[in-house]
Amino acid sequence: MIALSLAEIASVVGGQTYDIPDPQVRVTGPVVIDSRKVESGSLFAAFAGERVDGHDYARDVVEKGAAAVLAARPVGVPAIVVEDVQAALGALARHVVARLGATLVALTGSAGKTSTKDLIAQVLQRKAPTVFTPGSFNNEIGLPLTALSATDETRFLVLEMGARGKGHIQYLTGLTPPKVGVVLNVGTAHIGEFGGREQIAEAKGELVEALPAEGTAILNADDPLVRAMASRTKAKVLLFGEAAEAAVRAENVRLTENGQPAFSLRTPSGCSEVTLRLYGEHHVSNALAAAAVAHDLGMSVEEIAVALSEAGTLSRWRMEVTERSDGVTIVNDAYNANPESMRAALRALVAMGKGRRTWAVLGHMAELGDESLAEHDAVGRLAVRLNVSKLVAVGGREASWLQLGAYNEGSWGEESVHVSDAQAAVDLLRSELRPGDVVLVKASRSVGLESVAQALIEGGVDAR
Ligand SMILES: Nc1ncnc2c1ncn2[C@@H]1O[C@H](COP(=O)(O)OP(=O)(O)OP(=O)(O)O)[C@@H](O)[C@H]1O
Ligand SMILES: [Mg+2]
Repeated sequence: MIALSLAEIASVVGGQTYDIPDPQVRVTGPVVIDSRKVESGSLFAAFAGERVDGHDYARDVVEKGAAAVLAARPVGVPAIVVEDVQAALGALARHVVARLGATLVALTGSAGKTSTKDLIAQVLQRKAPTVFTPGSFNNEIGLPLTALSATDETRFLVLEMGARGKGHIQYLTGLTPPKVGVVLNVGTAHIGEFGGREQIAEAKGELVEALPAEGTAILNADDPLVRAMASRTKAKVLLFGEAAEAAVRAENVRLTENGQPAFSLRTPSGCSEVTLRLYGEHHVSNALAAAAVAHDLGMSVEEIAVALSEAGTLSRWRMEVTERSDGVTIVNDAYNANPESMRAALRALVAMGKGRRTWAVLGHMAELGDESLAEHDAVGRLAVRLNVSKLVAVGGREASWLQLGAYNEGSWGEESVHVSDAQAAVDLLRSELRPGDVVLVKASRSVGLESVAQALIEGGVDAR
């Protein structure tokens, strides 16, 4: 974080100082909420979670070098005490960001935020120092923590914004007002909580409403609900996609024999060839969004194409490909799943598995509300239509819907199977996998299906 005195922080957050011998002491280290991440000069924000209360670690973090604790009550060590720690963290982030000389880029969408954010960061980094959301820290706590990790050198701050309902993005843009705002897609993630796609579009569009007139709204031309957001912003609109009217476009899109997308990237500055190191055609759209941001921030098409072609996966369990020594390929996409990402991953599996046996080990997609049965059924059917060799549906009721969908689409007997849990899936795969097979593992986060991928990679390890 940029160095600030405890007195200044207290004034920004409207807090009371307690047990602080010298209010001019400065916070120079990172602002953290995990006591294990405290460094000398840190500010530790104490949150009371379900199982642990950060306030219990106050003494410990100060011994480890923290300058003070941001707390909801006095804790017997240097502390800035506020009524609401989350609101204080947000206020501090807003203050710090306003002092930075950085351009803020924010992105949202139903699927692909983290993948795209990692691409944007890897492209912009080539131009100037860039700070970006680690992993998927896209909520009211992760976002201010990321913003606070920027320094005076930071030129680009790239922030993932997540939403589970109306007003969430508006809250986040209030903390860190973006100049460039990207909306990737409106799918069905969290549709149960939102109520429908229109409601999701309503909520995601809050991002472009927050942009200033001199900013840029970067919108997916291929997604009608996103494209329609052009009318909700004062900012200049830049479209990306495969549609002909998109200013940043992919032409001649194909998958290489490894399942990696290749395309001609066209921006208003020219045309250049890209081959991604990432797997799955869905990354074309993500790469175009990143290219549009980079173009808007002054990079040439050649620079962008090279950066995209060299960009790797920064966040785990997203189409993470491991080649086993016996020639079995494991594709671990167990970070999360929704209907769009399931479809994209199945298509990638089939592309990677040309001429080989393909296995889709799939689990429950969470938070689909009334759509749940139909969506699980549809994914099961798609696996058959794409000619995946074998579907292994893992888990309870929703998994049985997946399997039933496949069965009804014309997969009988051996081609699809329903197993009760991760261990049963591992047992089955261990006995049936043959050299050359490709295995996709994917489900919602709560299923924890990465244990299956891990067990298959590590051989003898128990998945339980
Ligand atoms: N453009 C896309 N369309 C559909 N699926 C995608 C797209 N990009 C990535 N995915 C898939 O969606 C899943 C989640 O990807 P990612 O973590 O990038 O998304 P996210 O929007 O950050 O998710 P979260 O809401 O959990 O933060 C992965 O399985 C990934 O393969
Ligand atoms: Mg994410």
